[in-house]
Amino acid sequence: MEKMVIEGGYPLNGKVKVNGAKNAALPIMAACLLINGTTKLRGIPELTDVKTLCKILNELGVDTKKCEDGSLDITVKDERNITAPYDLVRTMRASICVLGPLLGKRGMAKVSIPGGCSIGSRPIDIHIKGIESLGAEVVMEDGYVIATGKMKGSEIYLGGPYGSTVLGTCNIIMAAVLAEGRTIIENAACEPEVQDLAHFLNKAGANIAGIGESNLIVDGVDRLNGIEYEIIPDRIEAGTIMIAGAITGGNIVLENDASCYLASVIDKLREAGVGIKITDADKNTPGHVQSSECFVKRDGNIKPVNITTLPYPGMPTDMQAQFSALLSIANGTSIITERVFPHRFMHVAELNRMGANIMNEDAIAIIKGVPKLSGTTVMASDLRASASLIIAGLAAKGITEIRRLYHIDRGYERLEDRLKNLGAKIWREKE
Ligand code: EPU
Repeated sequence: MEKMVIEGGYPLNGKVKVNGAKNAALPIMAACLLINGTTKLRGIPELTDVKTLCKILNELGVDTKKCEDGSLDITVKDERNITAPYDLVRTMRASICVLGPLLGKRGMAKVSIPGGCSIGSRPIDIHIKGIESLGAEVVMEDGYVIATGKMKGSEIYLGGPYGSTVLGTCNIIMAAVLAEGRTIIENAACEPEVQDLAHFLNKAGANIAGIGESNLIVDGVDRLNGIEYEIIPDRIEAGTIMIAGAITGGNIVLENDASCYLASVIDKLREAGVGIKITDADKNTPGHVQSSECFVKRDGNIKPVNITTLPYPGMPTDMQAQFSALLSIANGTSIITERVFPHRFMHVAELNRMGANIMNEDAIAIIKGVPKLSGTTVMASDLRASASLIIAGLAAKGITEIRRLYHIDRGYERLEDRLKNLGAKIWREKE
């Protein structure tokens, strides 16, 4: 096992390129199950979660080939197996995104039911309701969801206790693209990653209208063909690096930046006193490489701000832990309300071990800013919690050691190398 070690107190300066989005890459890779011929995907980040999904696709008779130019070629070779096994699914909850395309193309899917995780219970009831409405017969047996049936267009309302569902929307879109007739998805998730999946599918021959809106219309087509496609930049990686720059009082530039998807994050960073300037924002070309650069600079103190996480275009829950770290050294008290995963506060106790003063009750955290954090040994509980501890470590006095590092490699490609290039003192060591 490895741990991350950070010597805090060095401002980040310089340029960094934002990678392709993990949460767009995963459903788009799964969508290749629907496609005849080879699909070439560009901008797929090197992450454990991507490797896990490749393994699941391989089990499902799909060839995944990493090319010399960094692109990933995906070709379905054999459609007989329809099982995504427990041993792979248990390591990545997002594996559920093979359910929709397997059902849509092979008429049958057997996917291990993902367990809970440290950010909450994470049920899949809305996914199930959606595929049932398209005509699937669903049984839950021996820890697996087993779904069968020929998909037929229908009207589906995707509502849950906290709004829509991102991967649920992806699953229903993928189950519906080859269905007979028209599917109307009401209260669809509008996240940029869902939009990217829909743009990808349309390029491959699907007929999806209303992309980016809460009502999607999917008219079934007979087949989808292999294409080349570039994944959008990762807005959460971009936001994480912006906050890392801001907390260290640095001056950084993000290239291939995702700021067109980060209005809520940029708004709150500005309110907190962080200077952000964006050039050449290419707002209207989702599904294409962004050409903009984003300059992040902080001179004065961090000001307190109140944040409520919400579905897109609201503040992403995937940025909440990073903001908690930043606001822990603000000049006053901030309140964070978590409206997507109400129990996603595992990072709070660890930040408090570093000297933060955060009180969490139910879905609310009250953060009383302290002048300085101090380095110590902390435990990462999930991907974004790891990012928040790294951010805190970059600003803390002394040495921070972060254990259970494997979480970070699930969603950030070589994060420490990229922070090192910006001037951070950060490295890995054997535990
Ligand atoms: N929900 C239900 N029933 C369902 C599905 C969801 O009650 O059938 C609830 C969830 O428990 C949660 C809320 O609805 O309270 C929203 O969950 P959603 O389904 O939208 O989450 P997800 O699709 O499983 C994706 C991202 C998460 C991100 C959320 C919210 C991927 C691979 N994962 O998860 O990303 O936090 O949307 O934006 O796209 C991460 O990258 O660290 C991460 C956790």
